[in-house]
Amino acid sequence: MFETLKARPADGILALMQMFKDDPRDNKIDLGVGVYKDATGLTPIMRAVKAAEHTLWETQDSKVYTGLAGDPAFSDAMVALVLGSAVPRDAVASVATPGGTGAVRQAFELIRMARPDARVFVSDPTWPNHVSILNYLGMEVVRYRYFDSETRGVDFDGMMADLKTARAGDVILLHGCCHNPTGANLNLTEWQAVVETLLETGAVPMIDIAYQGFGDGLEEDAAGTRLVASSVPECLIAASCSKNFGIYRERTGILMAVSANKGARKLHQDTLAFLNRQNYSFPPDHGARLVTMILTDESLRADWQAELEDVRLSMLTLRQHLADELQQLSGSDRFGFLAQHRGMFSLLGTTPDRVQALREQNGIYMVGDSRMNIAGLNAQTVPILARAIVDVGV
Ligand code: LMR
Repeated sequence: MFETLKARPADGILALMQMFKDDPRDNKIDLGVGVYKDATGLTPIMRAVKAAEHTLWETQDSKVYTGLAGDPAFSDAMVALVLGSAVPRDAVASVATPGGTGAVRQAFELIRMARPDARVFVSDPTWPNHVSILNYLGMEVVRYRYFDSETRGVDFDGMMADLKTARAGDVILLHGCCHNPTGANLNLTEWQAVVETLLETGAVPMIDIAYQGFGDGLEEDAAGTRLVASSVPECLIAASCSKNFGIYRERTGILMAVSANKGARKLHQDTLAFLNRQNYSFPPDHGARLVTMILTDESLRADWQAELEDVRLSMLTLRQHLADELQQLSGSDRFGFLAQHRGMFSLLGTTPDRVQALREQNGIYMVGDSRMNIAGLNAQTVPILARAIVDVGV
């Protein structure tokens, strides 16, 4: 039977990881996959995570199953981290999932189950795996304008015009902060305008928030998500702990369904648990337990927040350094957007040919759409990248 299988197109981000590994050059620079790296190129285990793991090793006396929704304490801690006090706790149904991608997948399945004809509006561009999963599930994808290739900021007028074409029951997928792949984000006034359009059209927002704490700060990065969740009748939120806790391979994420209709919470909770049971039964617990321990212990939490803030500031410094170098080398301000973008990524906004030239001539690896992982740089490689960008004619 397996001879009927067809080859699938390789995932661009993961294929690039392999190409980088296979490149023998010593001076190669990895700006590909979205993992944080320090100045030495290491993706460190955060101090609070190490400390929590130590305590867990000493105190955990059973690995028996948790609940289908995961440990309720994880849900409580994550709902508070993402939503603060924006909505009452009993307005939120939630399940732990294998990573943020697990939450995205469960959210799409929930949408398809509730409304098989729903169209899902995604930003143009968006994280390619959003579209890949939607296609895999046979769901209709509509792209809304997002990135302005001139300013490298948000094409907000285009975005709003496209969102207004949504119908009641369609879904609008938004990035909570640190937009992947562009790095261009909405300000709070723009979030408010999005909320008004959602209320006018009756479309349902789904927010993917995978980089809370990497942009302007933990609270600031959640502000758009909180505004939406507290303003609309229903919303879905997929949150990842991979990046802000640095626990990528532990696969730790959460899906939240927020509803103003309190009577609906049990049905939502039961449906989310059902979806977990169908797809993988109990969600992974190790990473979720570490996150819970950190968020509920005053000193672990303070240390985690301090380290996360260092990570955030180091990326901002690299952004400014790169923008300054490019300003000097090019004699123009056209790269100023790099210092305005937030999060791990910036879309350089150049052609695949130039991306290829940077890879082949300079050993600089960025995703084919010209997305750069800023955390892949350090003080030594910033000038090398700037020189190469100017030489290749961006
Ligand atoms: C990325 O966008 O590079 C990360 O989210 C990793 C991934 O799974 O694609």
